[in-house]
Order: sequence, then C-alpha cells, then structure tokens
Amino acid sequence: MVKAVVAGASGGIGQPLSLLLKLSPLVDELALYDVVNSPGVAADLSHISSNAKTSGYLPKDDGAKAAFKDADIIVIPAGIPRKPGMTRDDLFNINAGIVKGLIEVAAEVAPKAFILVISNPVNSTVPISAEVLKAKGVFNAQRLFGVTTLDIVRAETFVAEVAGKSNPQELTVPVIGGHSGDTIVPLFSQISPSVTIPDDKYEALVNRVQYGGDEVVKAKDGLGSATLSMAYAGYRFAEKLLKAVKGAKGLVEPSYVYLPGIPGGEEIQKKVGVDFFSVPIELGPNGAEKAHDVLGNITEREQKLLDAAIAGLKGNISKGVTFANAPP
Ligand code: NAD
Ligand code: LMR
Repeated sequence: MVKAVVAGASGGIGQPLSLLLKLSPLVDELALYDVVNSPGVAADLSHISSNAKTSGYLPKDDGAKAAFKDADIIVIPAGIPRKPGMTRDDLFNINAGIVKGLIEVAAEVAPKAFILVISNPVNSTVPISAEVLKAKGVFNAQRLFGVTTLDIVRAETFVAEVAGKSNPQELTVPVIGGHSGDTIVPLFSQISPSVTIPDDKYEALVNRVQYGGDEVVKAKDGLGSATLSMAYAGYRFAEKLLKAVKGAKGLVEPSYVYLPGIPGGEEIQKKVGVDFFSVPIELGPNGAEKAHDVLGNITEREQKLLDAAIAGLKGNISKGVTFANAPP
C-alpha cells in the first residue's frame, strides 16, 4: 500500500500533480494538504474512478500531521512562485519558513517517507530540509530529493527542437548542478543517443535550459511560473521512484541530493566541493541507490559552466543551512 501526500495541493502545481497521482495505479492513498481549499480539491478528485482513496486537510485540527501520518512519499510544491523580475532566491524569505515547517511535521509523523522538494529556491530548500531532518535525528539522504526534473524535461524538448528529433523523450540529456540560472548545467556532450549541437547554437541552447523558467514567468506576466510542465516533471520523478521502490531496475533520473549520504556521492562531492548537487541518480528500493559520476568526460565549455554553478551553489547552500540552524 502506498500513501502519497501533496503539500501545497491547491496551488498551480499542486492541483495537476494531485490529479496525476490520483490517476496512478502506483498510489493507493492520496492525502492533500494546503492552507486553503484542499478539502475541495480532494472532493473533486475523489469522484474519479481510479484506485487512490483521496482526502483533504487544512491546518486546523493538526491537519498537516493527519495528512502526513505514515506517508510513503511526500511531494512539496507549497510556497509562493516568482513574478517577472524576481529570482528564485527572492522567494527564500517566505518559502524557507514554509518548507521548514512542513519538514518538521514530516520528521515527526512520517520519518521514513521519501520527500520530494519542489518549492523554490530548491538550491536552498533542500539543504534546509536536510538540516531539519538531521536535527530531528531522522535524516536519510537516500530519501530526500530536490526535484530538478523540469530542467531535464526542458533540455529534452529544446535539444530535440534544435536537432530535428521528432520524439524528445527518446533522448537522455543529463543536466547537473542546481535549479536556478547558471547553477543549471546541461551536459550536451553526454546526450544519448548522441546528438551534435552546432557550435553556433550551443550558447543559446545552454541559456534556454538555464533560463527556461524565466520564459514561463514572463509569458504568465505576473500570474505565476511553470505549473503544468512542473506537475508533469514532478509526477515523472515520483512515478520513477515508486516503480523503483517496487523493484523496477535501471531507473535513473537526475536529482539534487546530499552527496555524502548517497553511495557513490562522496567521490563526486570531493570533485565539486559542495554537499548538495544534482547528478543522475539510480533509483531503487532504498530511494537513491547510487549517484552517477558524469564529471569524468565533460568538455572544456561544460567545465566553465560547472565552475560558475559551483560558485553560485555555495552561497545558496550555506544560506539554507544557516537559516535552518538559526534559533527560532
Ligand atoms: P501557487 O501559489 O500556485 O501554489 C502554492 C500553494 O502552496 C498554494 O495553494 C498555497 O496555499 C500553498 N501553501 C502556502 N503555504 C503553505 C503551507 N504552509 N502549507 C501548505 N501549503 C501552503 O504556486 P505554484 O505555482 O504551485 O508554485 C509552488 C512552488 O513551486 C513555488 O515556490 C515555485 O517557485 C516552485 N516551483 C518549482 C519548480 C521546480 O522545478 N522545482 C518548478 C515550478 C515551480
Ligand atoms: C521553473 O524552473 O520553472 C521553476 O523553478 C519556477 C521558476 O521560478 O522559474
């Protein structure tokens, strides 16, 4: 029996993500938590004739605890999105506290859950989550994932456009680093099956993957950021994880993880010099079973991107760690 929770379930991401989870044969119970409208969203979804039993919870009557209790997987898209002109880091002041509070509840009532953090700035909210779980004595790095799948989804789409491929999903495009601007590092030299990006298109393509989020923020013109593509990406990661937990082999997807706590991650941590970093992760019954070192074969241009990413990540990570450990 799999119990899935969406925290932030009434939002732009939360609603379509909850719909996808409700449709999944991998989910038996779906608990929706939000500060508004979650009983309404749950009532609506509950009329769909799929397997998952669906319920909605608000903060009153310890609703977060009731929703999270004994969850197997908790997906967190709670928090405010960007408006034009904002960076993801501008969301820190509000979203850091929201994520901290939700992880505290998870630590208490679902300490073994797989936790998928979508709320921005992911580069900082994942370190915050790790610190909270550590303080509560229940941290297991193999179970905490920063969801960077949207960067991979965008890279597949944009590369396929440039390369004239009709099915983007046949491409595997590793994207590593973090989830904001130049902390996002696409490795076009490692696309499989191999694709050659023309030199005159390389820079624009890198930029489009790094700043794809801004394209959507601009187009929505003050009404939020990516929601539908993110719901797809979040579901894609959750589905792969649930399949792997149930025994499917060979499932790999990049995710922003605490490297020292993942098999294979320590060697990568020594190379990049930061604890939190996204690399392709092999998924299995314990969650993150192995971090794949893709740094060995990178090109000179990719090394430059990587250096810029690491510089940015250092500040984002220490900001999160400091926040999580500050006295209340
Ligand atoms: P939204 O405003 O539409 O929805 C957020 C929801 O969170 C709202 O329903 C709100 O009521 C709820 N919420 C606020 N505080 C809460 C709390 N304490 N507990 C539970 N729920 C709470 O925003 P959105 O467009 O769905 O985006 C949500 C977050 O996801 C943003 O931070 C955004 O930047 C981020 N995001 C991340 C990625 C990624 O790739 N990781 C992609 C897109 C968006
Ligand atoms: C994205 O990449 O679309 C998200 O991180 C949302 C944003 O703020 O751009």
